Amino acid sequence: MLANLARLPKDSILGLAALARADQRPNKIDLTVGVYLDENGVCPVMQAVRDAQAELVFEETSKVYLPPQGDVAFVAQMPKLVLGGSHPAVIEGRFSTIQTPGGCGALRIASEVLAVANPSAKVWLPNPTWPVHEPLLGSVGLEFARYAYYDDDTHSLDFERMMRDLQGVKSGDAVLLHGCCHNPCGADLNESQWQKVADLLLDRGAMPLIDIAYQGLGDDLEQDALGVRMLAKQLPEVLIAASCSKNFGLYRERTGATIFVTHTAEQADVALSQALGAARRLYSMPPAHGAIIAGKILSSPQLEMSWRNELQQMTQRMQTLREDLSAQLSTQTQRDFSFVAREKGMFSFLGLTVAQVHELRDEHAVYMLDSSRINVAGLTPERTERLARAIKHVL
Ligand code: LMR
Repeated sequence: MLANLARLPKDSILGLAALARADQRPNKIDLTVGVYLDENGVCPVMQAVRDAQAELVFEETSKVYLPPQGDVAFVAQMPKLVLGGSHPAVIEGRFSTIQTPGGCGALRIASEVLAVANPSAKVWLPNPTWPVHEPLLGSVGLEFARYAYYDDDTHSLDFERMMRDLQGVKSGDAVLLHGCCHNPCGADLNESQWQKVADLLLDRGAMPLIDIAYQGLGDDLEQDALGVRMLAKQLPEVLIAASCSKNFGLYRERTGATIFVTHTAEQADVALSQALGAARRLYSMPPAHGAIIAGKILSSPQLEMSWRNELQQMTQRMQTLREDLSAQLSTQTQRDFSFVAREKGMFSFLGLTVAQVHELRDEHAVYMLDSSRINVAGLTPERTERLARAIKHVL
């Protein structure tokens, strides 16, 4: 039977990262997959994670299953991290949380519950968006519509077209929004734009599904959650998929959460029961290690402070890399690359053609996605200079 299977193409991000890893050229620059790398090109284990992990190794006496909802401390702390401890939904208990295998698991659980709530819901995705959104959310049978988001010519958010497209949203639809650090373009909504989106969704009776995978890596933990907090204040229902992969550096530990903000505490509990049912069908219980670590960090003032400080340094480093790259590209190419310094988080499009991206790969050992998305964190001052020269060459 398996002989009937056709081979699938390699994943557009992970397949390319494997190619970059296999490249033996000593000067290669890998800007593919979205992981934070330090100035030595290493994806570091954060100090607070090391400390919490050391405690865990010492304390852990059993490997028995976690409860289906997840680690108790993690589940208690994540909504406070995302929504803030004084958020009305948190204070009034109008939310529920389930620990998930990473942000992907969080999106999948959200889509499972959404599909039960309204099987004919259309999910509106930004154009562009993370390439896994559609297959991941589509695996439960939901349909999609697209709304314009980024203008390749102006290298910025096209808010006017976005709002025009979103006029098509109907009651019962869901609109996927990137909470911060848009993947792949790095262009985020400002406060007044979030407000206009909130007004539109309220008017339509549509629900936001907010993917927040980079909280803390744009400006800071509070500022990056501004949109999600605002929508969760103003709308009766919000679905949130949060990831601890990037901001805690817990990538391989698959640590995330789906948070349901609802009109009443009772509804939040019903939504959780559906999420638990979906989790049981899919993977039964979540993995323990990463969530226990994140839960410990968020429950200990000392560990939390260490984590927040290190995260802020990472974010600052990426901002400096952005400014440096923007300046070097503008000088080398005589074009305006100031948008790179304005954008947030790990990603930006460089506005190159596929042919130019391939030439960079083949001739200069520089790896980025075909869309010319780069992971800014893969740069160092020395690599930035080399990248700018290589780009001048292909332009
Ligand atoms: C990325 O976009 O590179 C990251 O979110 C990693 C992934 O799973 O694709």
